[in-house]
Amino acid sequence: MAKYQQLVDQLREQIEAHIWPTGEKLPSLRQQAEQSGLSLMTVMHAYEVLESQGWIVSKPQSGYYVAPRAASSRARPPVQAIARTDQADTNSFVFDVLQATRDPAIMPFGSAFPDPELFPQRQLMRSLVKVSHTLRPGDALNNLPPGNEALRKILAQRYAQQGITLSPDDIVITNGAMEALNLSLQAVTEPGDWVVIENPSFYGALQAIERLKLNAIAIASDVQQGIDLQELEQALQRWPVKACWLMTNRQNPLGYTLSAERKQQLVALLARYDVAMIEDDVYSDLYSGQDKPLPAKAFDRDGRVLHCGSFSKNLVAGFRVGWVAAGRYAQRVQRIQLMSTLSTSAPMQLALADFLSTRSYDTHLKRLRQTLAKRKQLAQQALRRVLPADAHVSDTPGGYFLWIALPEHINTTALYHLALQAGISIAPGQLFSSGDQFSHCFRFNTAWPWDSRAEAAVETLGQLIAQLAGARR
Ligand SMILES: Cc1ncc(COP(=O)(O)O)c(C=O)c1O
Repeated sequence: MAKYQQLVDQLREQIEAHIWPTGEKLPSLRQQAEQSGLSLMTVMHAYEVLESQGWIVSKPQSGYYVAPRAASSRARPPVQAIARTDQADTNSFVFDVLQATRDPAIMPFGSAFPDPELFPQRQLMRSLVKVSHTLRPGDALNNLPPGNEALRKILAQRYAQQGITLSPDDIVITNGAMEALNLSLQAVTEPGDWVVIENPSFYGALQAIERLKLNAIAIASDVQQGIDLQELEQALQRWPVKACWLMTNRQNPLGYTLSAERKQQLVALLARYDVAMIEDDVYSDLYSGQDKPLPAKAFDRDGRVLHCGSFSKNLVAGFRVGWVAAGRYAQRVQRIQLMSTLSTSAPMQLALADFLSTRSYDTHLKRLRQTLAKRKQLAQQALRRVLPADAHVSDTPGGYFLWIALPEHINTTALYHLALQAGISIAPGQLFSSGDQFSHCFRFNTAWPWDSRAEAAVETLGQLIAQLAGARR
């Protein structure tokens, strides 16, 4: 295909996907030539073709703009491609919400972290003190990417307990899962590539996609069923998708866990379209019932799944240690880490390796799961007492989030602002999607002690919701 035609097709798809909405100015000829590496003549020819087909209009002395009928003349695509400007808006709102949850005077129902009092702080400190006594000057170098060998071996053994055979060399230790996810995304994409996420999805995915100048396609996901695999396949047929960033266990914010069968179908589908999968599995140990659900990684036959985990949600948030089992991308991830943050802190890696070599970790996890389950139940009961009868509270097992859908006319961003003034944070639906279809939903963190403070905060939240419901009637 001629080069100008490739650019024509690319821009047409972007206009159809509302990446360039009606009336938006396209990059100038010179900018487009620089971005695409094409000659000015080729770009000019492509723009002329698009203009002759009615997709764009030129305004003298100003540039090229998306024509009014271009976006509206076609049916809305079945999946939602996200405009970059929307992502940027989400970004600053996420920042505000996260800042608010740091204030100890605020009841942190909007936080993503569990109550740190549930973590074995004393034992962890004992490990940290122990390793600090034996720390040698060479340890900084010994723990460079891929990271501490003992820690990687322990992680490989934990995968093996689930029947997943991985070499410690497949694993890279990172600064929390956030770094694991970001490095993974960078390892499998180039700027301008297309990436699939869930709708709604963890806001960290939207932020990473924006930072790396990627294009996002959000696929409908449902509290019960999880991601719609049919819609995903349609997106894979329609867009040249390079990677998916998905959660398969206790998805944030909806809380669902995909069945093993659907995980297997998902990996097979991605293999058919040669798409890499970044699996965000930070809540993997917070399951309910006897058995830990398998990750999608368990069905990966050709190393395309980059499985990202963390200790932040189940052991210690402040150490900032996570990992990625990166399969065929392990070397690339290491190289990018070396060029960005260099490595994870050596004492933190050593302390975790020390702690995990005892049996305390599994005992702690078991107790943590029990406490979280009790707290979640109490929170559900309290919320049901104060929410409108037609509100829906998700009831997915495990983890510590509830996803609450209020009647559609109640805006949870307005609720967020009102609640904050009353000393309560929530995570409004707007954080998890660039569209507005979750503007009546919010995520509620149930991991806090269920005491009079929490009860009073839920009562207040109920009153604010009633106030908002009344105001719109
Ligand atoms: C779904 C999800 N993934 C990743 C992270 C980041 O984890 P970490 O603290 O290990 O960087 C979070 C934290 O909120 C999360 O909720």
